[in-house]
Amino acid sequence: MPRVEPLAFSPSLAMKNSAKTASAIAVEGVSFFWPSGVAVLRNCSLAIEPGEFCMLLGNNGSGKSTLLRLLAGLLKRQTGRIEMQGPVGFVFQNPDHQLVMPTVGADVAFGLVKEKLSLAQVRQRVDEALCAVNLQHLQRRAIYALSGGQKQRVAIAGAIAQHCQILLLDEPTALLDPDSQIDLVRQVQSLVKSRGLTALWVTHRLAELDYCDRAFC
Ligand SMILES: Nc1ncnc2c1ncn2[C@@H]1O[C@H](COP(=O)(O)OP(=O)(O)OP(=O)(O)O)[C@@H](O)[C@H]1O
Ligand SMILES: [Mg+2]
Repeated sequence: MPRVEPLAFSPSLAMKNSAKTASAIAVEGVSFFWPSGVAVLRNCSLAIEPGEFCMLLGNNGSGKSTLLRLLAGLLKRQTGRIEMQGPVGFVFQNPDHQLVMPTVGADVAFGLVKEKLSLAQVRQRVDEALCAVNLQHLQRRAIYALSGGQKQRVAIAGAIAQHCQILLLDEPTALLDPDSQIDLVRQVQSLVKSRGLTALWVTHRLAELDYCDRAFC
């Protein structure tokens, strides 16, 4: 089992930052309130080093998804500091909320549109990303004809094609059966270690903790 740490203000984080060691994900003193005034996060701090695979646990409604959305810039922080070293890819609990194109290859290529690459570069990025998640053979497959685990791997391939250095995964195995669940967590562990990525993975499933370096709750 990995070390499990409470999400809290950490003096060691402040010291690390003053020594200019860049964490891949640095959160310091972040609070978040909904417009109703309800607080979700209060003075939350954490630091994740480059190359770490970390997990985040917590009760329903404790603010895990809110924190991930703040890290991804999908919500605006109201207090404190958030620093992300490198482009961020987000993987949602339900891949049907994320995959927008009709086929696997087209979906991975879709995320590259804003980069204005040549057709050859797009093909090369898509091939490489699908190879990384062992889905190259399904490049022409319709999205609707994939399993849940394959859909999550397409979402991860999208982030890899965009050269994301940090993966944020919000309960990516919640809709998967136990075998696919373990396949996916192993795949992400292997990608993090082989490609030097950093990942923060939200889960309620304790069996997944065996695959991470550290966990927060
Ligand atoms: N758009 C919203 N407006 C107002 N309150 C919200 C909104 N989204 C979430 N909340 C509330 O914020 C709190 C934290 O929600 P969040 O989704 O971050 O929890 P979570 O830890 O991810 O829970 P779960 O384990 O169920 O996914 C909850 O009380 C939730 O009801
Ligand atoms: Mg959530």
